[in-house]
Amino acid sequence: MASHLSTSEEFSKPAQEAARITVKRNRSYLSILTLVVSIFILGWFVYDEAVLSISDVKFHMANTYISIFTDADVSVGKNMQPVAEDVGDCDVFNGNWVLDDIRYPLYREENCEFMSTQFSCMKNGRKDDTYQKWRWQPRNCMLPRFDARRLLSQLTGKRLMFVGDSLHRNQWESMVCLLQSGATNKSVIRDGSITAFHIFDYNATVEFYWAPFLVESNSDNPRMHSILDRIIKPDSIHKHGVHWKGVDYLVFNSYIWWMNTSKMKVLKGESFDEESTEYDEILRPTAYERVIRTWANWVDQNIDSNVTSVFFNSMSPIHYRSEDWNGSNGTNCAMETKPILNVTGLPPTGTDKRLLEVVENVTESMRMPVRILNITTLSEYRKDAHASVYTIRQGELLSPEQQADPMKYADCIHWCLPGLPDTWNELLYTKIVSSRLDN
Ligand SMILES: *[C@@H]1O[C@H](CO)[C@@H](O)[C@H](O)[C@H]1NC(C)=O
Ligand SMILES: *[C@@H]1O[C@H](CO)[C@@H](O)[C@H](O)[C@H]1NC(C)=O
Ligand SMILES: *[C@@H]1O[C@H](CO)[C@@H](O)[C@H](O)[C@H]1NC(C)=O
Ligand SMILES: *[C@@H]1O[C@H](CO)[C@@H](O)[C@H](O)[C@H]1NC(C)=O
Ligand SMILES: *[C@@H]1O[C@H](CO)[C@@H](O)[C@H](O)[C@H]1NC(C)=O
Ligand SMILES: *[C@@H]1O[C@H](CO)[C@@H](O)[C@H](O)[C@H]1NC(C)=O
Ligand SMILES: *[C@@H]1O[C@H](CO)[C@@H](O)[C@H](O)[C@H]1NC(C)=O
Ligand SMILES: *[C@@H]1O[C@H](CO)[C@@H](O)[C@H](O)[C@H]1NC(C)=O
Ligand SMILES: *[C@@H]1O[C@H](CO)[C@@H](O)[C@H](O)[C@H]1NC(C)=O
Repeated sequence: MASHLSTSEEFSKPAQEAARITVKRNRSYLSILTLVVSIFILGWFVYDEAVLSISDVKFHMANTYISIFTDADVSVGKNMQPVAEDVGDCDVFNGNWVLDDIRYPLYREENCEFMSTQFSCMKNGRKDDTYQKWRWQPRNCMLPRFDARRLLSQLTGKRLMFVGDSLHRNQWESMVCLLQSGATNKSVIRDGSITAFHIFDYNATVEFYWAPFLVESNSDNPRMHSILDRIIKPDSIHKHGVHWKGVDYLVFNSYIWWMNTSKMKVLKGESFDEESTEYDEILRPTAYERVIRTWANWVDQNIDSNVTSVFFNSMSPIHYRSEDWNGSNGTNCAMETKPILNVTGLPPTGTDKRLLEVVENVTESMRMPVRILNITTLSEYRKDAHASVYTIRQGELLSPEQQADPMKYADCIHWCLPGLPDTWNELLYTKIVSSRLDN
């Protein structure tokens, strides 16, 4: 575990990336949306043709593909993915991946003007693109089709904010790409710990707030944060929390920064002063629980459940050990082009599930309802979907020499876009548009 994190400085997004996206654009993506929608409607009935144009992965999957369509017929009554939002009590996190190159990807990499180089894998040299074409199929229902305008109208005059680490920045970028086709007047503006996508047509914002531990830590600077020596203040959250007040949809996460040591450094004094910083070392789940309790108390005391919906994203898994999925020895996510398709039993990827248990236990006794987005298992199947060597390191695209050495340089933490984080957003979308608390 340790060595993986040490190869991945991509926790930090370099400043020039941010500068690049601080531009106003004013172009219409209507035509693309129309095209995607019509391909989808037409394509739904002609999947046989799609199966003819196949790679062998696709062929292999053809049976699953068709049988899923049949299920859909039964549950929806039409050969269409529902536009309506009602998934009822369906456990949308329990299911499997289905190849669907008719509807996916939901947008094109080259059409997302705000995407950073960190996640644009094809532009960075990745050759296979099947990773963009998998649809998450819950066992007992269909996910509603992501409709940018529908979500934007729900967000009118509102704010949606992802709070947490770089995996949430990954998801935030995905959401920006998913929504931008629905708006003409939009821009990304960065201010301190907040990076905000403004959709002026709807007076809406979709924001990312950098707080990798949720509580205060010595890693709070969104541009320059040491990953070598992380120290937290588990009882201090107000400095961050003040920026979350009044936001309509809050989505939290905190996982990856906990992961390279079994113990967490907890500050003894008041401030992170220079070399003299003193700390205790506390077991990971214990320290995590202290943090989650601090967070829960803050939410209960500062968030109005009549205004705000609160979500918590479970752990985003890593794929550094091919032994876990019977890959050839000594490789990682870098050579992977297919998800794990055998969904019998849980995928063995070494995610520390105790941390989700902590979140579940703590949220149960909160006054504020918190909806947990259980993205861990479905993401564990996606060993093919990481940024791998098609990404940046310390602000620079990996060189051909570095790309040739995936054991040293592959990023098996973050995910390519379009890709897996789009599914996380489809799940969030499902929860938001089906929410009875809103409007
Ligand atoms: C944790 O990661 C840091 C930085 O990558 C590394 O220097 C350190 O040795 C790791 N800790 C352990 C216990 O391996
Ligand atoms: C998350 O979803 C997986 C897959 O359905 C399930 O096995 C697991 O128990 C769920 N975990 C929680 C905490 O709900
Ligand atoms: C725009 O949205 C913000 C909340 O994000 C709200 O405070 C403000 O009143 C809205 N402005 C207009 C003109 O609706
Ligand atoms: C875009 O929105 C901004 C902020 O509301 C406004 O000042 C500007 O005039 C708008 N531009 C266009 C082209 O509508
Ligand atoms: C929330 O709304 C309900 C019903 O409108 C009201 O009774 C309650 O006082 C509100 N709660 C808060 C915290 O404003
Ligand atoms: C890996 O292979 C072993 C032996 O062939 C088998 O027992 C195990 O279930 C396989 N694991 C996965 C995740 O397929
Ligand atoms: C992988 O390595 C382990 C021990 O290092 C060995 O037992 C196993 O046979 C190897 N598997 C393959 C497929 O080479
Ligand atoms: C699927 O995984 C289960 C549990 O790991 C294993 O027992 C089974 O043999 C696997 N099936 C196939 C077809 O690989
Ligand atoms: C969560 O709560 C259950 C039931 O009270 C308890 O058995 C379990 O140890 C708790 N887990 C953690 C990680 O705190």
